[in-house]
Parts: sequence; C-alpha cells; structure tokens
Amino acid sequence: MHLKSSVAWTVAVLVSAGASFAAEPARAPAPPPKLPPGVSAVLWKLSVPPGAEPTPEKVALGEKLFKDKRLSADDSVSCETCHDPAKGFTDGKDRAVGIKDQKGTRNSPTVLNAMFNAAQFWDGRAATLEDQAKLPILNPIEMGQPSPEAVVTKVRGLPGYSDEFQKVFGRPVNYDDLAAAIAAFERTQYSGNSRFDRFIFGDDKALNASEKNGWALFNGKGRCNECHAANIVSPLFSDQKFHNIGIAAHKQDFVQLAREALGTVRLGDQKQIDELALQSKFSELGRFLVTKQENDVGSFKTPTLRNIAITGPYMHDGSMVTLWDVMDHYNKGGVSNPFLDGGMQRLGLTEPEIDDLVAFMFTLTDARFDKLNVQEQARQRGRKNTRPERDNDAVQGKKGNLGDIAPNPDLAVKNPAELGAYGSPAPVMNPSPAKK
Ligand code: HEC
Ligand code: HEC
Repeated sequence: MHLKSSVAWTVAVLVSAGASFAAEPARAPAPPPKLPPGVSAVLWKLSVPPGAEPTPEKVALGEKLFKDKRLSADDSVSCETCHDPAKGFTDGKDRAVGIKDQKGTRNSPTVLNAMFNAAQFWDGRAATLEDQAKLPILNPIEMGQPSPEAVVTKVRGLPGYSDEFQKVFGRPVNYDDLAAAIAAFERTQYSGNSRFDRFIFGDDKALNASEKNGWALFNGKGRCNECHAANIVSPLFSDQKFHNIGIAAHKQDFVQLAREALGTVRLGDQKQIDELALQSKFSELGRFLVTKQENDVGSFKTPTLRNIAITGPYMHDGSMVTLWDVMDHYNKGGVSNPFLDGGMQRLGLTEPEIDDLVAFMFTLTDARFDKLNVQEQARQRGRKNTRPERDNDAVQGKKGNLGDIAPNPDLAVKNPAELGAYGSPAPVMNPSPAKK
C-alpha cells in the first residue's frame, strides 16, 4: 500500500516539477483535521498516504460518486444503498442486496473508520480503500457494471463529471481517479466521540456502573480484548487479524469445502475471489480464499466494535440479530470446528454479566448517532427473550467437546481503565468539568 502510493506520489511530484503542462500545481499536503477523541492522530497519518490527502474538492466529488446510483448498471444501486450514512454506513440487512434484488452472502460492514483497516473486506482481499472501491461497481450482484471502461464511458457522458474530474485531477475521467475520489470521501469518515471516549479521557460519570463493569468484563472474564483490544494508538477494538470464531461452522463441512476450493481459486485473481466471496458456497471459507492457507479456513477479519450498536445484524453473514446473540455465541465458546481459533473458550458469563457487556458495547457509539443508539438499545432489549444462540449446557461445559479449559472464575473483575489497560497510565486529556 505504501509502496504503491509512494510511487504515485513520486510520479506526481516529477510531473508537476518538470513539466509546465502539469494541470495541478504542486501543493503542500493538507494538514490533518482536528480529530475527535477516540480517533488516533498516529493512525490517521499512517492511513492517509502522501498524495491521498482528502482535499475538499476531491472529497466533494467522492461523496457525489458514493451517492450516485448511475454508477450501477441499471441506475438502481449506489455505494450508499448498502452503506447509508443515516444507518451508520450500513444497510440494516443481514446480507447485502444489489441490482435486480440479488442477495449476496455477506453482511455490509460500516464505512466509518474503514480508512484505518489494515485490509478491506471481511477477508482482507483488498489492500486499500482505492482497491476496494473498484470491486463492488463491477460485481455482478452489487452494481453490475461489465468493465471499468463501461463505467468510465458512462460517467463521462453524465453532465458535470468531466469538468469536475478535470478540476480535481487535471485529466479526463478514468477508473483510478474515480476510486481515488471515493476513497478521499471515505477518509473523512472517521468516528470517535462516544461515551466510552469521554469516560476513558477522564469523565468518570460518562458510564454507569453496569457499563463500567462491562468494560472490565471485556478485558477480564469475557476475554474480548484478546482480539478486540483498543488502545490510544489503535482505538478501533480490533487486532486487524483474521480468526475462525465458528460463525458458519454448523452450516459447512469446512474440510470438504476447502479441498474443493483448492482446485477452483486462482490466487491473486481479485475479481474471481470477489465473486466467489459474495455469491458462492466458498464464501464461508473466508480468508482462505485469499491465502489458500489451511489455518485461514473459516476465518474473518476482527471487525471494529466502534458504532457496533447501530451497525447490526452481526457477523460476516449477518446471522446474529442482537448483541445478546453475539454474547451467547461467545459464552459457549463459539461453534466447534477443526479450525476454531485457540482464543475461543467457554466463558461462563452469568446473565447479569452478559447484560453489562452488552451495555458496554452500546457506549461505543459516536455521539452523532445518539438517538439511533437509544432506539436500537430498546429494540434489541425487546428481543432479549429470543435467544437462538443460547446454550446453557454448553456454557457450563455439560456438553460438547471444545477441548478447552473451563472458564477461570478467578479472573479479576477490576476496572482495567484504572489499571491502565487503555494506554498506560490511562490518559486524562479532557478532565470533565464535573470532576472539579
Ligand atoms: C450491494 C451492496 C453494496 C454496495 C452497492 C457496495 N457495498 Fe461496500 N460492502 C458490501 C458488502 C457486503 C461488503 C463486505 C463484503 C466482503 O467482505 O466480502 C462491503 C465492504 C465494503 C468495504 C470494506 C469495509 C471493511 O470493514 O472491510 C468498504 C470500504 C466498502 N464496502 C465501500 C463501498 C464503496 C465505496 C462502494 C461503492 C463503490 C460500495 N461499498 C458498494 C456491500 C455493498
Ligand atoms: C479469537 C478472537 C476473538 C475474540 C476472543 C472475540 N472476538 Fe468478537 N469477533 C472476532 C471476529 C474474527 C469476528 C468476525 C467473525 C465472523 O464474522 O465470522 C468478531 C465479531 C464480533 C462482533 C460482530 C461485529 C460485526 O460488525 O458484525 C461483535 C459484536 C463481537 N465480535 C464482540 C465480541 C465480544 C463482546 C467478545 C468477548 C466476549 C469478543 N467479540 C471476543 C474475533 C474475536
């Protein structure tokens, strides 16, 4: 990612320095914006390669493209259709629906903070936002365009775009610039400023007792921080790695499926992998489709938990409706399969502890979605008695053989914020007025 962008940057500098016909004058990189609490300046800098700074003109063009249904083959679907800003940049559906009402195999993740992902998609098959943006437009069940050339020809024919591309990039519409503009817009969609951030930056009253206990359980008995750790430099609640946590395990014979895939998948053929991932039974192989490594079978990227409350349904296949379902899944140690991550164990959490952990997750929502967060909390609580993932016998180790260690009842439930688990010691940057 950095190599590619630094090459592009070097070329841009050479062109603008050496040739008077360079349309775009060399320009000092835009300064980083004032970032809200919970968004790491270090990560922001790493995630905006030189030359990819989101300038206002580029962002405006990117936003227009993001929302324009005419980018799809039949003018019916835009990026926004599946990544609606009003819904936390998701669609609220279990699995995404593209042109001609075609339903894919995967859940639409949020675009909020996607700029910080080490790799894009549930299986990491795209390295950058630019690479990512090029795929849905061409995927037959998403936006359905036959080729990059077809997209470029269509966009050149739409009023306004040719002039705007010329102004922003100094050349006619082309597919790379189109993706770059969309990526620039996405690089303005960072998100922090949650109640959790206020708490971690010193406002002790920002969380109630149950939510604080949830945070302690998250780092203690619940072991969530093993994969969803957050710290001051990487405050995303994701290790950016891939794990098999047994989501689709009960639906598949992974071994058989992986064997079949070995003969089909062409390593590095991004378009083929994109299509297999979204519309074939091989979808459930996850990261394996990208690497063909056995230990990647059924593994998916650890998603960010920021804004998790408003971006359900959950998991790569949208198979879990509420955060209580998610907790039930983890509490029984996931679903056994030959490739289950070693980090998955029975947790033995009690119902009040599950409630606290869920309450904690509702504090990770950006303040701009406060209203939706409250609505969603009520909606999910209303479904608390519908618990398809719940299995008390499995939780208590009375059934199933996960080959694991029983949950450790002694794991201290202390407030890790006080122990400095979020940067050491816990930073106090905005002491709350209430504390004075
Ligand atoms: C038909 C619905 C649909 C459309 C249209 C669509 N997406 Fe997505 N998007 C998805 C789904 C589903 C995934 C996850 C697919 C996967 O991981 O295999 C995804 C993944 C992503 C990701 C990766 C996020 C992450 O956390 O890994 C980004 C960024 C993204 N889309 C941006 C876009 C942009 C930009 C466009 C328009 C050019 C677009 N999407 C069009 C459904 C859609
Ligand atoms: C072994 C690593 C690991 C551990 C431990 C873990 N997670 Fe996850 N988490 C993941 C991965 C990987 C996914 C995506 C899996 C998939 O879709 O197949 C995920 C998905 C989720 C999701 C759904 C996210 C979304 O956008 O749909 C939530 C919520 C979640 N985890 C919360 C938790 C909580 C709470 C804990 C502790 C009780 C926990 N996780 C422990 C790795 C882990």
